[in-house]
Amino acid sequence: NPIPQDLFAAINELKKELNAVILAHYYQEPDIQDIADYIGDSLGLSQQAANTDAEVIVFAGVHFMAETAKILNPDKLVLLPDLNAGCSLADSCPPQEFQAFKDAHPDHLVISYINCTAEIKAKSDIICTSSNAVKLVEQIPPEKPIIFAPDRNLGRYVAEQTGRDLVLWQGSCIVHETFSEKKMIELQVEHPTAEIIAHPECEPAVLRHAKYIGSTTALLKYCQNSNRDKFIVATEPGIIHQMKKAAPNKQFIPAPAMNNCACNECPHMRLNTLEKLYLAMKNKTPEITLPEDIRVAALKPIQKMLEMS
Ligand code: 13P
Ligand code: SF4
Repeated sequence: NPIPQDLFAAINELKKELNAVILAHYYQEPDIQDIADYIGDSLGLSQQAANTDAEVIVFAGVHFMAETAKILNPDKLVLLPDLNAGCSLADSCPPQEFQAFKDAHPDHLVISYINCTAEIKAKSDIICTSSNAVKLVEQIPPEKPIIFAPDRNLGRYVAEQTGRDLVLWQGSCIVHETFSEKKMIELQVEHPTAEIIAHPECEPAVLRHAKYIGSTTALLKYCQNSNRDKFIVATEPGIIHQMKKAAPNKQFIPAPAMNNCACNECPHMRLNTLEKLYLAMKNKTPEITLPEDIRVAALKPIQKMLEMS
């Protein structure tokens, strides 16, 4: 399978041939963002997947995102350029252990962050994303106890924002755990006019310095509309590509990781490349499949989220 010189042209050609739509998350490498039909956060991407009339969905993101697209579109071909693009947060919540956790809290409503497997979704009442979690929890009657899974940092943030006492599954994301509070403060001293903005998956030590906390789309909009011209960005730095496009005169500094490594880049997201995207479309593989009983059970809480958002 020779790789064409002009991958952009070849991918655009395949897009027409397959009647495909390319959906990309902000954490994808810049080239992938530039070829995508739609770039967004997890909520935006699932809304696009729910409404597309394309026959093929090429999902440039991680497995749980493409899986959500397949749950919503059982009859469409859903391609993921690299099937190994997983998620440490989704991995931190194995179905058997989660079932035992649920059984220990039998009267609780289960709200799960979309960053989980279809099996966990199938065991949940409502799915949320980082952009609607607070809004969805606020719609639950105050007397109803809630399990929130799998991200403990987002869970803690939602509990603070809503004043609710959530039972938290203790999962976390390797990328958002990696930011160093100390290095971030040193950077803030170096750039006193810069504003720290953060994704709610970050640890409380980082979140407490943030002037603004939100999903990737919310962070992007915030930078665009703010009258500040410098930001320290505590989330995966892939988003900075769109921030620079949206506000070319502003400066965006990635928040530093503990040991100056590039480990603030998501190793799962970055498994996808433009070449793999081309090959997935050319060969119509790797495709996402899942058992129908799990798909049907996982669809309900996703639909609930889409209705409530
Ligand atoms: P959002 O897409 O909701 O901003 O979440 C980011 C994320 O961690 C995806 O894995
Ligand atoms: Fe998962 Fe974290 Fe990567 Fe998002 S950034 S896909 S939560 S590992």
